[in-house]
Amino acid sequence: MDSYIDLKDIVTEELKHVDLDRVNVTCSPPDVEPQRQYYFMAKCRQIVKSESERLGRPLYACIQTFGCQMNARDSEKLLGILTQIGYVSTQEESEADFVIYNTCTVRDNANQRVYGRLGFLNSLKRQRPHLKIALCGCMMQEQTVIDKIRKSYRFVDLIFGTHNLFKFAQLLLTMFENRDMIVDIWQETDQIVEELPVNRKYPYKSGINIMFGCNNFCSYCIVPYVRGRERSRDPQEIVQEIRQLVADGVVEVMLLGQNVNSYGKNLDEPITFAQLLSKVEQIDGLKRIRFMTSHPRDLSDELIEVMKNSKKICRHLHLPVQAGSDRILQAMNRRYTKAQYLALVDKIRAAMPDIALTTDIIVGFPGETPEDVEETIDVVRRVQYDNAFTFIYSKRTGTPASVMENQVPEDVVREGFDRLLKEVQDTAKRRAALLQGQVMEALVEEVNEQDASLMTGRLSNNMLVHFPAPATLIGQLVQVSLDTCHGFYYTGHIIS
Ligand code: SAH
Ligand code: SF4
Ligand code: F3S
Repeated sequence: MDSYIDLKDIVTEELKHVDLDRVNVTCSPPDVEPQRQYYFMAKCRQIVKSESERLGRPLYACIQTFGCQMNARDSEKLLGILTQIGYVSTQEESEADFVIYNTCTVRDNANQRVYGRLGFLNSLKRQRPHLKIALCGCMMQEQTVIDKIRKSYRFVDLIFGTHNLFKFAQLLLTMFENRDMIVDIWQETDQIVEELPVNRKYPYKSGINIMFGCNNFCSYCIVPYVRGRERSRDPQEIVQEIRQLVADGVVEVMLLGQNVNSYGKNLDEPITFAQLLSKVEQIDGLKRIRFMTSHPRDLSDELIEVMKNSKKICRHLHLPVQAGSDRILQAMNRRYTKAQYLALVDKIRAAMPDIALTTDIIVGFPGETPEDVEETIDVVRRVQYDNAFTFIYSKRTGTPASVMENQVPEDVVREGFDRLLKEVQDTAKRRAALLQGQVMEALVEEVNEQDASLMTGRLSNNMLVHFPAPATLIGQLVQVSLDTCHGFYYTGHIIS
């Protein structure tokens, strides 16, 4: 065997290329991150290897992701570590040796789904006692959830939160070496640990975290409590990570943050989100840039200008409005009025007439009347959204809205929700139909789920189009004629 590698001697950029089988794990672990985690990966790898040899087959891991793109990206990081230590990824919980739920708690139905599926995992574990179960993500940052799992779901092996995800390898080792439930939740962190392995879901596109946490404290929202205070990543590190992704075949990136418009404000050398976009624009080989999510209050003229002049930033803006009534917007602590929001939309449309606008809307916030919902519907009519995600208000313990009086009765909420949904769908269909007959650029993403002779492509404005093409085109940009509109998507053909 070749000589051992001491991780203490390896610089961070080289860590991903280290052969973990050659790492010296007889010494104590390095003190610094992320070297320390590579040490634990090497140790876990030995354990997985010997277990796999004993069973005469690979060990399988299954990650289920709930929630938003942040969680999806986190799951890619978890899978990166699991792959490094020797697990093979599977979609099937029933064949897995290790199941991880990366949870979301933004609305109660997300939590209920997790509890429901934990019941199923319990029965699986009775049949396969060696099955390991881990829970992580936003839901785990709530003490009431931890208490409930400790009490009623004692078969869970490992629980960790959003702030210490980077030490997954270390936690795994603890799990392998102990029989009791391991619970490690941090309340807050100012650490950002990157340069850990990532196993991307798509070869040609990738999410990339530019910031973590949120400082906005919209009164209904639990995210600031479970994701902590806003922290921006260093712009050079972001650019460097995207360069690496491009070298690895990525043509489209999605810059991720709960409120990307306040990116960079708290860095030692402050920089705006628009300035970051300009830097990303200059990366050779990168074709498309998306970002998520923009808070309307912080969206600057500078950003509109940069988007307008960009060749790479997609013609799509997700601009959550949440409500149309000024009284409700104020109670939500959104810090803009309906008029300000509409004026912003006008400004954006004037600069980029072809931009697609999408939004998030909540119905049933405490005190909301049918007249308030009418105000929201009015916004939908005026803005003409290309798509809108509509949610029924969910009471989140610990948020200011949860203790507000006048919680709206369910039937009233339902009625308002249905009225709004109809308007949203009618508008979206009208908007979609406008593109009939146009030729647009699409990124070929995958084989069509229903018809394998078709490929599914995504337009710059985020709309999907299905067209005959070979699978070899996946990851390429093609010109597609939008022949037939089917409500929210098109079928078409490639223009060679
Ligand atoms: N940071 C993003 C949103 C993250 S949560 C932003 O500010 O736009 C995604 C969406 O979930 C929100 O836009 C909101 O519409 C919805 N949401 C958040 N909390 C909710 C709650 N308590 N009940 C219902 N919907 C909620
Ligand atoms: Fe939640 Fe508001 Fe932050 Fe979005 S901006 S994550 S809705 S608190
Ligand atoms: Fe859910 Fe957490 Fe995202 S609560 S929406 S997974 S930030």
